[in-house]
Amino acid sequence: MTKEYTYKVTAAGRINIIGEHIDYCGGKVMPAALSLKNTVYICPNGTNTINLSWTTLPDNVSLDIDKLESYKGLKYGNYQAGAALMWKNAGHKVIGCDMLHDCTVPFGSGLSSSAAIEVSTIAALATVAGDSFDPVDVALKAQQAEREYTGVNCGIMDQYASACGKKNSVMLLDCSTVKCDYLPLNLGDYSLVIINCNKPHNLVESKYNERRAQTEEALSILKTVLPVSCLAEVSVEQFEKYGKKLSGKVYDRCKHVVEECERVNKAAAAMKSGDILLLGKLLNESHKSLKELYEVTGAELDALAAAAQAHPACIGSRMTGAGFGGCTISLVHKDGVDDFKKVVSAEYLNKIGYECKIYDAEIADGITVTKI
Ligand code: GLA
Repeated sequence: MTKEYTYKVTAAGRINIIGEHIDYCGGKVMPAALSLKNTVYICPNGTNTINLSWTTLPDNVSLDIDKLESYKGLKYGNYQAGAALMWKNAGHKVIGCDMLHDCTVPFGSGLSSSAAIEVSTIAALATVAGDSFDPVDVALKAQQAEREYTGVNCGIMDQYASACGKKNSVMLLDCSTVKCDYLPLNLGDYSLVIINCNKPHNLVESKYNERRAQTEEALSILKTVLPVSCLAEVSVEQFEKYGKKLSGKVYDRCKHVVEECERVNKAAAAMKSGDILLLGKLLNESHKSLKELYEVTGAELDALAAAAQAHPACIGSRMTGAGFGGCTISLVHKDGVDDFKKVVSAEYLNKIGYECKIYDAEIADGITVTKI
């Protein structure tokens, strides 16, 4: 790094312990921020452009601050442009600057590299302009960028976790109120193991948006018989009574949402009481539901979860994030972690034909700002 950067700003990738595909239905989710993160080194440059460079890419991109809406087609730099535009449109000062991005969240891994880039970009722009910021506000603007600029109609989970995560804590985030409780991540004798199935991503955005539209359809039908404003308000009992109003895939998607909301409540209680075995069981149930009812897993994530669940040291495993590729998380007894990694990797290679990748990551803070 030859340039004299003045601040180092980071935002985290995330895992989601449980509560999948329910943030956009007003549900409670349980994400945690990771030590895999996007770091922005930034300094003012006295111009009207944001100059982007990367530690891992040869590209250099300049964004004209008056034309931020025109960079949607960029392969690299579109997340930064979208984030800067939403921050600026919200009335904040955006000044010319040089930014070096160093991302250790693997792209396309389902660990929210995009949220980490958007959140760190906004926090860095505010910081270099001499402004303080509310991390929740940063998360909301980052989510807006993802939805309006890159076209993924996402919920708030990823950006919130990226901005507001706390070291060694999981968040119990209520996505209808955007309020969060922090629970200590106390897994006793168990460790969390994160494994990427390495499936090449494709069409994730359109499949994601389709799932979201199906839940909206379910809600509009159930609203005719129940006084609810989001699917997360539908109880398991109410679904048993009124679910027959829905049919086909829309029924299946809604059943997943209702039951996953219930699982999050049970998981939060299990986490609080230290019942890690129950937590593991809930992880397995969540994966099954995402496979059979929500249909977002695919052969690769299913192979990884099945190999993990079959290992004697593992008490629970599920896909995490949007699915269609990306990562699983597994709860594994500390004494068996090495063997678990070996056996699951070998079984995955044997079944799928290419290797998975295991990450060593800790649960860490969301945004950090350091003066250099
Ligand atoms: C993606 C989205 C989140 C959430 C998850 C699924 O990560 O960005 O908002 O919907 O998928 O739980």
